[in-house]
Amino acid sequence: MFANFVLTSIVGAVVAAAQSIECARNYTVHLGDVCDTISASQNSSTYQLAHVNPNIDEGCTNLALGEPLCLGEVGHDCQDTYVISSGDGCWAISQTFGIGLDILLANNPNVASDCSNIYPNEASFGLADAQTES
Ligand SMILES: *[C@@H]1O[C@H](CO)[C@@H](O)[C@H](O)[C@H]1NC(C)=O
Ligand SMILES: *[C@@H]1O[C@H](CO)[C@@H](O)[C@H](O)[C@H]1NC(C)=O
Repeated sequence: MFANFVLTSIVGAVVAAAQSIECARNYTVHLGDVCDTISASQNSSTYQLAHVNPNIDEGCTNLALGEPLCLGEVGHDCQDTYVISSGDGCWAISQTFGIGLDILLANNPNVASDCSNIYPNEASFGLADAQTES
């Protein structure tokens, strides 16, 4: 009973927070769009796009044509992104851009600490912290 109540409250708070996000950039879903191509073409990292659109499911299977999406929150909109190429690894990316591996991982909480879950061409990395860059 108590556990259910707490869970409901947390979900309620997340929904309320999502609705209060002020979008710095908006996007309208087009035919054939998937999250990776939107994030790659619009310079909004995979993490940021998911973070500011909590209504999108984990596999990005519920985008609707014409649906309005937020690309970044005012004051926390990192547009400095990198689209992953075949053979890229987190260490090489951190070297290329002169960003510490720990910072790169902190900026992209969706990436596993051993970098085993990045994949080429579509996903994009945030190179600056979406929480601090404006
Ligand atoms: C994004 O869309 C919201 C909701 O329609 C609107 O209030 C806001 O002004 C738009 N932001 C930009 C930057 O166009
Ligand atoms: C994304 O960033 C690149 C490189 O800075 C820029 O050339 C491009 O115009 C940006 N695209 C959008 C949609 O902001």
